[in-house]
Formats: sequence, C-alpha cells, structure tokens
Amino acid sequence: MGKIIAFANQKGGVGKTTTAINVAASLAVSELKTLLIDLDPQCNATTGLAEMFSQNGTTIYDILVREQPMSKGIKKTSLDFLDIVPSTNDLVGAEIELVGMMAREYQLRKCIKRQIKKYDFVLLDCPPSLGLLTLNALSTADSVLIPIQCEYFALEGLSQLLQTIRLVQRHLNPGLEIEGVLITMYDSRLNLSKQVVKEVKDYFDGKTFSTMIRRNVRLSEAPSFGKPILLYEANSPGAQDYLTLVQEMLERGSKETR
Ligand SMILES: Nc1ncnc2c1ncn2[C@@H]1O[C@H](COP(=O)(O)OP(=O)(O)OP(=O)(O)O)[C@@H](O)[C@H]1O
Ligand SMILES: [Mg+2]
Repeated sequence: MGKIIAFANQKGGVGKTTTAINVAASLAVSELKTLLIDLDPQCNATTGLAEMFSQNGTTIYDILVREQPMSKGIKKTSLDFLDIVPSTNDLVGAEIELVGMMAREYQLRKCIKRQIKKYDFVLLDCPPSLGLLTLNALSTADSVLIPIQCEYFALEGLSQLLQTIRLVQRHLNPGLEIEGVLITMYDSRLNLSKQVVKEVKDYFDGKTFSTMIRRNVRLSEAPSFGKPILLYEANSPGAQDYLTLVQEMLERGSKETR
C-alpha cells in the first residue's frame, strides 16, 4: 500500500513544488513506484515536468470536480517509476465548485483509493493556501512534509498551518502525521541561515530533517527545461540534497515500521 505524503505550507514560494518534483524523481530512480499529483491551479509541478510526459486529456480538475476516474488522469513519464496527474488552471474553480459537493473534504481520498495499491508513494503538491484543495490533501495523506524557506520570518504563519493540521487530525483524518519539516534554500555563508535553522529546530523539536536543501541555481533552472534536477544536472548540490533527503525519509520510515 502506498504512502501518501502532502507537501504543504500556505506560505508561497517556500519550495513545496521543487521538493515534490525532486523527491518524486529521487524516489523513482530508487525504483520506488511513485505518483505525483499536482493539486495547485498554478500547475508548477505539471510545467516543471512538462518534458517528461504528454499533456493531454484528463486533469486533476476533471477527477475532483467532474468525477472522472483517477486512472484516466494518470500519465506515464519518461522515468519508469514515475507517473503524474497533471493540473490546469481550471483548478482555480475547484475551490468553489467543491464547496457544494457532498463530503467535499474527502473527494480526493475517494478518487485515489483504487490507485494507491499500485504505488510505493503518492505525493501531493499543494497550493499556497489552506483552502479546500489543501484540506483534501491533508484529509487523504498519511503524512505532511512542511518545507520552510530559510529566511527572515520563516516561522510566520506556521502556527496557523499547525492549527489546521490539528483540526484535520481531530475531525477528518486522525492518522495524519508530520513527515518532517524541511529547510529549503539554505545558504551556509549567511549568519541569518544558521539563526533560522536554530529557530526552526527549536520550534519543531525532533521533526526537522537533518538534510537541508541548499540554495542552488540549478534547482531554479530545471523547471524551465521541464525536468527534475536529476535529469538536468545530476551532479549539482540540489540533486545531491534531494537524494540525501529521500534516503533520510526512507530510513526514518523503516525505523517507524520496525
Ligand atoms: N533550493 C533552491 N535553490 C534555489 N532556488 C530554489 C530552491 N528551491 C526553490 N527554488 C526556487 O524558488 C521559487 C519557489 O519555489 P517553489 O515553486 O518550489 O515554491 P512553492 O512553495 O511551490 O511556491 P508556491 O507557493 O507558489 O506553490 C522557484 O522559483 C524555485 O525554482
Ligand atoms: Mg508550488
């Protein structure tokens, strides 16, 4: 049974999509069957992998709102172990259209059910809001990975996110866990970075990954070539950091199941 991980933080531009794409690719090259679902109307995960699959037909909007089968939206990519369900900006409407639907917070969970058996991991790239799309992700996921950008005000808004996670645990998905907190865009030359790391580690006692994602220009270039960093520049620090992160996630996971 696949593990479902949501990549969430309502703060914009903290590295959710970069992390979702590159964790997905790193899992896939480790021969773990992975499905990446783009839940963001900005469709950055979809465009960031655009060279890897052909974009036509069913999207996540059709699945969530028009109740088309998930199987129709799953596209194979050029990486053997990676599939994707793309998004389009139609998804903007879903936040509103879902409101009128029965069990609206469980729409994604309902659609995904039959597919999870085929995968080792299902990754959900969330939009920068705590609206119904993110709620659907949190109601479906086994765990949530929270990327935090290493900058001033890094912790701003996090109490609201944690409050939402607690509410979801209480009312919608009691099994939801925090996969971990990931520091992104780390720059070891800056004193500020070290200060932020300390603050985040103090705040999230034990939940912060020891792997940090360094600021690396190759990571910001790769999406314009429609590829994950591993297929763009495998030797870059960005590619190495995401491989190390996935290693750490897998080790943590195997410790938990022991
Ligand atoms: N480690 C990094 N080094 C350099 N640039 C990065 C790094 N991580 C992300 N970026 C860049 O920062 C920007 C924001 O990253 P990303 O799109 O992953 O954030 P996001 O949280 O998904 O944003 P949104 O909230 O809009 O969905 C992008 O331009 C991305 O290429
Ligand atoms: Mg994003």
